[in-house]
Amino acid sequence: MGSPKLDRHLAAYLAEAGYLVRPPYEIREMPDRDAYKFYASGLPVYHPWQIDADIATLMADLAKLGTMTLVDWDRMWTLKWAFLQTASIPGEIWEAGVYRGGSALMLKRLILAMRDQPSPPRLRLFDSFEGLPAVQAGLDLHEQGQFSDTSLDAVQRLLGEERFIDYRVGWIPTTFDGLGGSSIRLAHIDLDLYKSTADCCEFVYSRMAAGGVMLFDDYGFESCPGARKAIDEFFADKPECPLAIPTGQAVVFRIAR
Ligand SMILES: C[S@@+](CC[C@H](N)C(=O)[O-])C[C@H]1O[C@@H](n2cnc3c(N)ncnc32)[C@H](O)[C@@H]1O
Repeated sequence: MGSPKLDRHLAAYLAEAGYLVRPPYEIREMPDRDAYKFYASGLPVYHPWQIDADIATLMADLAKLGTMTLVDWDRMWTLKWAFLQTASIPGEIWEAGVYRGGSALMLKRLILAMRDQPSPPRLRLFDSFEGLPAVQAGLDLHEQGQFSDTSLDAVQRLLGEERFIDYRVGWIPTTFDGLGGSSIRLAHIDLDLYKSTADCCEFVYSRMAAGGVMLFDDYGFESCPGARKAIDEFFADKPECPLAIPTGQAVVFRIAR
């Protein structure tokens, strides 16, 4: 276990810095529950997300519009990094798990900012826009219907109907139908649940371009043990190894096929 004293100190510090600090989830059946703790080396390290103008503008705009994203500043920065890291790779950009469109808006803005490209990459957005599907008891801690306080209309009002955006409305994996020939340079996967994440890995992985990035938003969160299980199971027999990072995300670089 981490030091409860240090964790309380850190929680107070993070809350003061504007982070949303939640009490720990009750996870009784997870064997490595003790590995979930506040991350801190005690040393000052570079926090580029706190001074990133794109992220500051995005968060301010979302607040002004009375909406929000579940992706905090630090994870938004990883998403921006993943976009830039894959910028020279031809291919589509996918987001599975859009909710109110916060991280999708970030992706759209990054695409528009790349003015020197001949044509913008396709941005495909997958969500039911009616909340989570059935969850698996014992694997998932969320509830069916959670995140239903959104709609396709609301997200389209936020992002617009740019020609390069393809809204794939409905249930994953059905909404992957017809996309078998895709080549993907960046997949942002934020589905929170075991089966949704497993289905997504199954379809997306083999369509990733060499050097492309799969960024899993929810890998290390104690609220999403099912997502982590799905990712660990999927990559157990693959050459790539998910890199868990202190933001709670995991990153996979697709090795050349
Ligand atoms: C955590 S939210 C996404 C947060 C979002 N990236 C943001 O910027 O706030 C998870 C989303 O995944 C969607 N989702 C989960 N499983 C799904 C499935 N099988 N099919 C379609 N949507 C799914 C939910 O509807 C929900 O909107």
